Amino acid sequence: MKFLKFLTFAVVLSVATACSGPRDKEGGTIQELADRVFDLAQVQYKAMDKRLADDRIPKSFVDGKAVDAPVGDWVSGFFPGSLWLIYKYTEDPEFKALAEKNTLKLAGLTDGGFSHDIGFQINCSFGNAYRATGDEAWLPTIRKGAECLASRFSPVVGATRSWDNPKWKYPVIIDNMMNLEILTSASRLFGDKEFLKVAKTHANTTKANHFRPDYTTWHVVDYDPQTGEVIAKQTHQGLSDDSAWARGQAWGLYGYTMMYRETGDKAYLTQAENIARTLLDRLPEDGIPRWDFDAPEGDLRDSSAGAIMASAFAELSKYARKKALADRCLETAKRQVRTLASAEYLAEPGENGNFLLKHGVGHRPNNSEIDTPLSYGDYYFLEAVLRLVNRDFK
Ligand code: GLY
Repeated sequence: MKFLKFLTFAVVLSVATACSGPRDKEGGTIQELADRVFDLAQVQYKAMDKRLADDRIPKSFVDGKAVDAPVGDWVSGFFPGSLWLIYKYTEDPEFKALAEKNTLKLAGLTDGGFSHDIGFQINCSFGNAYRATGDEAWLPTIRKGAECLASRFSPVVGATRSWDNPKWKYPVIIDNMMNLEILTSASRLFGDKEFLKVAKTHANTTKANHFRPDYTTWHVVDYDPQTGEVIAKQTHQGLSDDSAWARGQAWGLYGYTMMYRETGDKAYLTQAENIARTLLDRLPEDGIPRWDFDAPEGDLRDSSAGAIMASAFAELSKYARKKALADRCLETAKRQVRTLASAEYLAEPGENGNFLLKHGVGHRPNNSEIDTPLSYGDYYFLEAVLRLVNRDFK
């Protein structure tokens, strides 16, 4: 009888473990980790909203002070975006209201004075608003956002222009792969093939010119706007022109995974798989890269790069054609999320300017946002967690 009881207990335990996966560092399953992270996110983000001026969006927390940005800042979509992700998980109407309020702060962005980052800004805010609610009132701004980005496209170069800084002739940064999602979404939503053509051309040009033979990426490629020829391959935020700036690698991995999802074009999947193999081989045991893969051992980690990669690996694990690679992607995404949800990286309630993740690196060569929270780190961390528990926007 005793043995029978023990057997029943063992079977129940092994079924429970098989269903919920291995325990994480803090002693929970990924599902329990998700509950813990979203419980914290509710507390932190409600407090963040409370202290915010009507025309500001939280960006970071430096030297004990909140850094709130105007809505024109490239990060402005991430705070409303995170609020939509919290709403997605909790279905709490209070978060819907907070997300709506902070999304609407960005409504004037498409009227002029926008940058290449209009894709990040509008897709994370208005894009998620539409995905969360299905309310067509969000659609016109998504269309306008796509038109704004497409207006920065040059058919000679075959890419949308990044910065307008005269230091470069026609700079295109790897980060811009992320902006393409507004174009692919708008193409689908409004049946406009031109948006898709611009997105695919940009992705093809970037695939041809940004990547080294080992599938690490340069940060900036500068083009001659008259001929489309490559003038220079450089860094701006990395250690050196030929180093692998961690967040740039993360944008590339996420960008090509997203482009495969959006287009079904296998060339983008192959690119994402190749980038993934390189990153998987170079990541440290806990999954969080140094701010630049070529920075010296012991140098600062960048939690934002770890979070972006975790989200991308979680998605790529569903598409990778070789099981061994798919398994490595999933296992790495889980390891990264567990590390980020440990006491080393995750804030206590009320700490860290109410952001979730500590230890991000914004712009090391400029000595700005060094070892601080970053709003995009939080956004992609929440997205990664949602993906790992299959609660993301499909
Ligand atoms: N897109 C700017 C950055 O990653 O810092």
